[in-house]
Amino acid sequence: MTSNTSLVMENNSAPLIIDGKAIAASVVEKVQNETQKLLKEHDLKPGIAVVIVGDDPASQVYVRNKGLKAEACGFKSVTHRLDEETSQKDLLNLVDQLNNDTTIHGILVQLPLPRHIDKDEVIQAIAPEKDVDGFHFINVGKLGAGVMQTALLPCTPAGCMILLREARGDDLSGLHAVVIGRSNIVGKPMAQLLLQANATVTIAHRHTPNVPQLCRSADIVVAAVGIPEMVKADWLKPGASVIDVGINRVDAPEKGEGKTRLVGDVAYEEAVKVAGAITPVPGGVGPMTIALLMANTLKAAYVSKGIEAPRF
Ligand code: GUN
Repeated sequence: MTSNTSLVMENNSAPLIIDGKAIAASVVEKVQNETQKLLKEHDLKPGIAVVIVGDDPASQVYVRNKGLKAEACGFKSVTHRLDEETSQKDLLNLVDQLNNDTTIHGILVQLPLPRHIDKDEVIQAIAPEKDVDGFHFINVGKLGAGVMQTALLPCTPAGCMILLREARGDDLSGLHAVVIGRSNIVGKPMAQLLLQANATVTIAHRHTPNVPQLCRSADIVVAAVGIPEMVKADWLKPGASVIDVGINRVDAPEKGEGKTRLVGDVAYEEAVKVAGAITPVPGGVGPMTIALLMANTLKAAYVSKGIEAPRF
């Protein structure tokens, strides 16, 4: 028995382990079916362009996976691999060319960009209706204003909402959600999506006092801070739904010298005993991000024709 076990009230019924891999596969299957429908009924094939500058190995893997998934969905998929030394002007010219390419409905510029490039200027240069990352101010504003029909939503929080709906249904009325982390990519849009689903939302961040106590009042905890296993079992209300966005690589000497393993922002092994539903790492939120990128590209293609897009 560890010293804090007495503080932890365990959840007596078996927790739901939210299978992000399976749910992402069902999102992709729906994208594939809707893509066929769009092609048959409207003679339109969704197109995505992914732009990568430089040769960061992790980014290369992500970009390759995005291209493969887009092809599997039946999209036109183009990848622009640019030299590390590419100028801001040349990158902006490419974005402009893609903005004007009617066969391309989604544009993603892989981050991080080399230091000599102003990423914000590049992101804001993408046509908002092709901004499948959901980072353009127009899409940020649409989300904030609840203009959901045409908004492109950031992929990770949109994926988290689908996982959460598996656990709690569509309407989160009366529930308290605590989002830990306030990034523009996850924390802030996540809070907006939860608010739209009628949750009462608190955003906690590095200046928030007593985050454990705050979390203990939450029906839903979304952890997106990048601190390995920060959220402990005794931070959780028994039965809470826990969405772990963190992907942290930590040393794993138990697996052998120099070995590592992936952990989330939640101490899974202890949290799973208290939570009502929880996402594992890996296999929880991770696979959803790319699936939602595909769903966004499909949506952008539908909206480009003025047709109501399928909902995910
Ligand atoms: N790099 C890591 N994650 C992302 C993402 O979601 N979008 C973009 N554009 N770059 C990334």
